[in-house]
Amino acid sequence: MALSSTSYPKKWKAGKTTVIRVPVTLAETVLEIAKRIDETDGCVLREEPFASLFPDLENTLPRVNVTYKAARPINVASVPQRSPFRYPGGKTWLVPYLRDWLNHQSKTPSRLIEPFAGGGIVSLTAGFERLARHIVFAELDERVAAVWQVVLNGQAEWLAKQIMDFDVTLENVKPALEKPAKTIREKAFQTILRNRVQRGGILATGAGLVKTGENGRGLRSRWYPETLARRIRDINAIKDRFTFVHGDAFKLIEEHSQDKSAVFYVDPPYTIAARRLYSEWQIDHERLFAAMARVKGDFLMSYDHTSEVLELAKRHGFETRGISMKNTHHAKMQELLIGRDLSWVSGP
Ligand SMILES: C[S@@+](CC[C@H](N)C(=O)[O-])C[C@H]1O[C@@H](n2cnc3c(N)ncnc32)[C@H](O)[C@@H]1O
Repeated sequence: MALSSTSYPKKWKAGKTTVIRVPVTLAETVLEIAKRIDETDGCVLREEPFASLFPDLENTLPRVNVTYKAARPINVASVPQRSPFRYPGGKTWLVPYLRDWLNHQSKTPSRLIEPFAGGGIVSLTAGFERLARHIVFAELDERVAAVWQVVLNGQAEWLAKQIMDFDVTLENVKPALEKPAKTIREKAFQTILRNRVQRGGILATGAGLVKTGENGRGLRSRWYPETLARRIRDINAIKDRFTFVHGDAFKLIEEHSQDKSAVFYVDPPYTIAARRLYSEWQIDHERLFAAMARVKGDFLMSYDHTSEVLELAKRHGFETRGISMKNTHHAKMQELLIGRDLSWVSGP
């Protein structure tokens, strides 16, 4: 069966269509895959399981322009995954909002400051998509910080190679996680490995290992060496756009608070779960709101939707907007965006 473009008139986002011949038994499947890729601007190829099946395709796919609107339900698969981390509390869902927010600024911000970076999806997206001229991001946890330091300060190739060469078996993983890291790059590798083989990406020492995982791949179910190495190399290729600070968020905010052309994306540890997820989980939220009230530039914060947070925002005269989203377990959750002016958030 040759399925032509006329079967789906004007339904393809990627542009001009052509006729291809494939075995009858594969036709439906090939069409389905093509439709999925087309729907997501090719980004589905950057999803880990998919990307690991087609490592060569990711960079050869034609790019098309898809505008993401905050009002549209967010298809997380359509957001390019750029971080080497799988991060608990990661903000992939926020990316379309981030684009709307930064594109709404009167001119491209001179700096985007991300003081609680974690897996850094916001900083990376802004850097890759040139949503700000320079990105400064900070993280206090020394294991997470080691990864960013190594990736951005000349050791990316070593880390990528180490990941490609490592054979994930129980016999190899246990000693690799237990031995004390002597150098910062060893610590970076250990962090990446821990993040991939411990359940939920939790970095706490001794957190349980992934046992069954997807596709019956057990311990390897989240280990995609080619994808990880490629992401690390891609970040390294544009490292001049980033400055990473291993340090305290409050200090970074203070340092840039008088800069009108800097914008801040603030995603502090908040939930009760934070205690389990991050080693740096306690912060003074009152103090953070007061610090944000003093900054001259624009800012966007994301928090859990709770009455305490709403109250804090109200007291400082900030606007709030609840966002419904589905987490990775497809449970409906309410997240909260906070800023001085959220008129750019479209939708109800
Ligand atoms: C909610 S997570 C950020 C997740 C991130 N937005 C992402 O998408 O991956 C908060 C992060 O802040 C870090 N953190 C906590 N206290 C900090 C502080 N005082 N300074 C800098 N980072 C801090 C935690 O280690 C954690 O990685």
